[in-house]
Amino acid sequence: MRWIFFLLAFSPLVASADPPVFDKASTLRFNTVCSHCHEGQCSGRLTFSLGPEATFTHIRRYAGDVDDDFARQLMELLELMKKECAFPPLAELDIRQTVHKEALDSYRDDESGNYFIPLGNLELGIHQLNLCFETTVPLRVEVLNEWFDFLVDHCSGCGCGTFSQTLEVDEAGKHFLRVRSQHPLELEELTLIRDSESRVP
Ligand code: HEC
Repeated sequence: MRWIFFLLAFSPLVASADPPVFDKASTLRFNTVCSHCHEGQCSGRLTFSLGPEATFTHIRRYAGDVDDDFARQLMELLELMKKECAFPPLAELDIRQTVHKEALDSYRDDESGNYFIPLGNLELGIHQLNLCFETTVPLRVEVLNEWFDFLVDHCSGCGCGTFSQTLEVDEAGKHFLRVRSQHPLELEELTLIRDSESRVP
């Protein structure tokens, strides 16, 4: 049996018969540093057009100096995204109350210092999103729904310690928050409140 392990570990492009199991770390890395270029690619399969070596060079360019197993997981996550036409699964954050740093930290990719947070199902209507960061750095806040439509794509060139944004949810369903920056971020607080009086025309 051992040789099978080595074969899989050292031959990143050899497909395993078992369904792949992804670490939270690789899923977070994928969702923070890869997905924005690849979302909406719902072709169902990889093309392998780059070839194995170029694919791994490409992956390490964005993911950092990851080992082969991690790189293989990232590649398989893209395959999963193309097949399911959805973000790779991550546990949803409970946003019924203000969420603090401790809970938010589990949605932070340690390498990039960026965040990807599944917000769960949002109802129709106006929602108010407030984010509070430890420091003031340039960052980009994106909120997408499960069909990869953007509700917010806000690039804050001047940086902001706090960020406040109205979200108009016109299709109830799963939503995702991604915060990206060249600088490692520390998200201290997140609040998402639905304006119960709101109606989207
Ligand atoms: C700045 C945009 C961008 C980023 C970021 C990016 N990619 Fe790509 N990627 C591309 C483009 C463009 C191609 C070539 C065209 C294609 O196959 O989509 C590509 C190709 C690939 C391929 C080959 C696709 C196939 O069908 O064989 C894989 C695998 C891949 N990327 C994985 C990743 C992973 C994993 C990350 C994150 C570590 C990542 N990419 C980050 C733009 C990007």
